[in-house]
Amino acid sequence: MWQYTPRVAVIRGLRTPFAKSGTHYGHLSALDLGKIVVAELVERSGIDPNDVQEVVFGNVIPSVKAPNIAREVVLGTGLPRKIPGVTVGMACASSNQAITTAADLIFRGYADTVIAGGAESLSDVPILFSKNFADALITASKQKSVGGKVGAFRKLKMKDFAPDAPAIAESTTGLTMGESAEKMAKENGIPREAQDKLALQSHTRAAKATADGRFKDEVMTVVVPPTYENIVESDNLVRADTTLEALAKLKPVFDRKFGTITAGNASPLTDGAAAVLLMSEEKAKALGLKPIGFIKSYAYAATDPFDQLLQGPVFALPAALDRAKIKLEDIGVIEMHEAFAAQVLSNIQWIGSKKIAQEKLGRSEPVGDIDPEKINNTGGSIALGHPFGATGSRIVTTVCNELQRTGQQYGLVTVCAAGGIGVAMVLERE
Ligand SMILES: CC(C)(COP(=O)(O)OP(=O)(O)OC[C@H]1O[C@@H](n2cnc3c(N)ncnc32)[C@H](O)[C@@H]1OP(=O)(O)O)[C@@H](O)C(=O)NCCC(=O)NCCS
Repeated sequence: MWQYTPRVAVIRGLRTPFAKSGTHYGHLSALDLGKIVVAELVERSGIDPNDVQEVVFGNVIPSVKAPNIAREVVLGTGLPRKIPGVTVGMACASSNQAITTAADLIFRGYADTVIAGGAESLSDVPILFSKNFADALITASKQKSVGGKVGAFRKLKMKDFAPDAPAIAESTTGLTMGESAEKMAKENGIPREAQDKLALQSHTRAAKATADGRFKDEVMTVVVPPTYENIVESDNLVRADTTLEALAKLKPVFDRKFGTITAGNASPLTDGAAAVLLMSEEKAKALGLKPIGFIKSYAYAATDPFDQLLQGPVFALPAALDRAKIKLEDIGVIEMHEAFAAQVLSNIQWIGSKKIAQEKLGRSEPVGDIDPEKINNTGGSIALGHPFGATGSRIVTTVCNELQRTGQQYGLVTVCAAGGIGVAMVLERE
């Protein structure tokens, strides 16, 4: 069975504090955030920047002016200009895709030192013109006379002038992520109380992990440009004081009449960036660096978006476990991306279901039971936030650091993504 040999080491990972969109980093772009984190990662790891052979970055809502954010990160951080940069996109799993793309380069022996990561600014989404208005602008630009230019706009209606902001929606189904999660909650019978309980757990654990200093190795301090007056040291979405009663009062957002998903049990719109430094085990040894973990296996899978959109990890998990030659019960640290509490609880339900195993996974027995108490021990995306392109790197780093802290051997990362995609990655401590 396939697995990474020679091994790919995670030397260390770092992220900016995550911030509610429109707050600390409201005036920054994903590129600004990516540059901040990569510069600090290189600095902290003490490597010679000339050793870096590639930067791979994930980003979901790219800038139309600088679509290859990975290369712009290289050019904007003082890294040697000879380093190529490649940007990958797999919705919320983009950062995982960046990491596995980088790991594959190392595995093949094409590189021994690669930076992978991702960044997102939901404060800086491109606002588009309608097609009719855009066509009129292009037509006008080709006219020589003032009359001709004005004439290009004559057929436009008032509605053509309305800005067209991208929605967090599936182009195939037309449903937003929230509506898709709402569908999953209904079909799987996930009650509102269970979702709020998971959200509360996410906040309580994130607050405790922050207070205990568990993020000290993975969250940097950002002195926010261009004025450098605002110093951001920790995530600003974590609510240490939230309660089940406060969560229960929030109104459903995506199905206002019969829904269960609220601002409290969904991941919030977030700005932030995260990155990891990957090396071949051999290179790390030669430099005397102690890796925080190794990538043992990974798998991507997809399900029909018209079925249950955010169940992708259920399909990826068994393949990743088989490739690592281990069982779910061998895993000591689990990080499951929390797009919505309803999605986490639905993923857990399907992973433990014999019916799903037989009908959808072609297996006679379920993949196994995941104890919700054992996952996301330092909180998850509901509390910490979810800058789409960065989340995978945050989670991989946290799993590695938790493996080091707890002495467990195997860690698991799962991330669901738009398009019905899911990724599962198995990490090991040594
Ligand atoms: C759900 C969503 C629409 C909410 O957006 P929002 O309304 O701007 O959210 P806010 O942060 O303003 O919160 C709304 C209210 O809930 C309250 N609230 C949020 N979380 C809370 C918590 N844990 N405890 C108590 N109150 C909470 C806020 O204080 C706010 O109250 P206010 O209106 O009195 O100020 C938005 O976060 C969203 O779209 N999330 C999903 C993103 C997504 O689809 N991601 C893709 C995943 S695949």
